[in-house]
Amino acid sequence: MSQNLEALIDIAVQRFEQCNSLTELDQTKAEFLGKQSALTQAFKGLGQLQGDARKQEGDRLNAIKTTIESALTARKIAIENALIEQKLTQEALDVTLPGRFRGNKSSKHPVTQTIERLETLFHSLGFITADGPEIEDDFHNFTALNTPELHPARSMHDTFYLEGGHLLRTHTSPIQVRYMENNAPPLRIIAPGRVYRVDSDATHSPMFHQIEGLWIDQTVNFANLKSLLSDFFRSFFESDTLAVRFRPSFFPFTEPSAEVDIGCVFCAGKGCKVCSHSGFLEVAGAGMVHPNVLKHVNIDPETFQGFAFGMGIERLAMLRYGVNDLRLFYENDLRFLQQFSR
Ligand code: PHE
Repeated sequence: MSQNLEALIDIAVQRFEQCNSLTELDQTKAEFLGKQSALTQAFKGLGQLQGDARKQEGDRLNAIKTTIESALTARKIAIENALIEQKLTQEALDVTLPGRFRGNKSSKHPVTQTIERLETLFHSLGFITADGPEIEDDFHNFTALNTPELHPARSMHDTFYLEGGHLLRTHTSPIQVRYMENNAPPLRIIAPGRVYRVDSDATHSPMFHQIEGLWIDQTVNFANLKSLLSDFFRSFFESDTLAVRFRPSFFPFTEPSAEVDIGCVFCAGKGCKVCSHSGFLEVAGAGMVHPNVLKHVNIDPETFQGFAFGMGIERLAMLRYGVNDLRLFYENDLRFLQQFSR
C-alpha cells in the first residue's frame, strides 16, 4: 500500500515549472491532484486501514498533498506575474520618443525674452518682481499717484475707460501703490506688465508693456537712482561706455522728475535718423517718489523716501534688436519671430 508517493513531489514541481500558461498549469494540476491521480487514489484506500496505521498514512498523504499544492500556488503566482510584466512591457509608452513633427521649434516671444532679461538684471540688483491687475480703478491708476480728477496731467495718457468706473491701466505705476498698500518699507520691486493707451502708429501700440521700478528706504536718493539706471542701461545694452543722461521733466507722482536718455545705440551718439540727429534716445521716466504718494499709502514721508522709474519694454527690445516698427511684435509673422528663436 505504502507506495513511494513522495517521489511525486519532485516530479510535480518539475512539471509545474515547465508550464508557461495558467491553462497548462491547470491540466498538469489534474495529473497530480485530480480524481484519477495516484494521490487521490491513495486517499481512497485509507478506508481500508484501521487505527494508527490509518492516521499515519492520512498524515503522510496530507503532507504530500500540501507540498504539491504550495508548489502549484507558487508556480501560479509566478506565471501571473510574468503575464503582468509582459503586458506592461508590451503596452509601455515611451514618452521620450521625439514627436513626428519636427518642422517648427517653439520659442519665447521677443517681448517675453526681454522681460526675462530685465528681471534677471534687476533681480541681481536685489529687486523682486511684483504684479497687479490690468483692469484698474481710477484711484490706483491716477488719484493715489497724485493725479486728482480734472488734473491736467491725466491728459498725458489717453485712457481706455470701462463701464463701472474701471479702466485699463495706462502705466505700471499703480502696482507701486498696490505694493506699498500691502507691504511696509524698505521695499525694492520691479513690476513688468501690459499697459493700454489709445494710441497706434509705428512706435505706439494700444497695448504695450512697461516695467516699473520702486525703491523705498530711509536714505535712498537721486544719486542712487542715477547710478542704478546708468548701471542697468549699460548692462542691458552691453556697453560700458553707453552715455546715460537725465533731463528734468514732470510726472505728478515724482518730484523731482526726470526723463532718462541713453546715447543712440544706432549711431553711437553721432546723430542719425533714429535719434532725430540728437545723439540721444529717450528710454525711461523716473524721479523721487512724491510725498503725497507715500501719504496715500500711509508711509511717513518724513521717515521714508525713494525713487521710481518706468520704461517701455517694446522700446527697449526695439533698440536692443534694431527693430524699426513696434507693430512687428504683434503681427505674429513667423519670419520675424523666428529671428528670435534660440
Ligand atoms: N508711469 C510713467 C509713464 O508711464 C513712467 C514713470 C514711472 C515715471 C515711474 C516716473 C516714475 O509715463
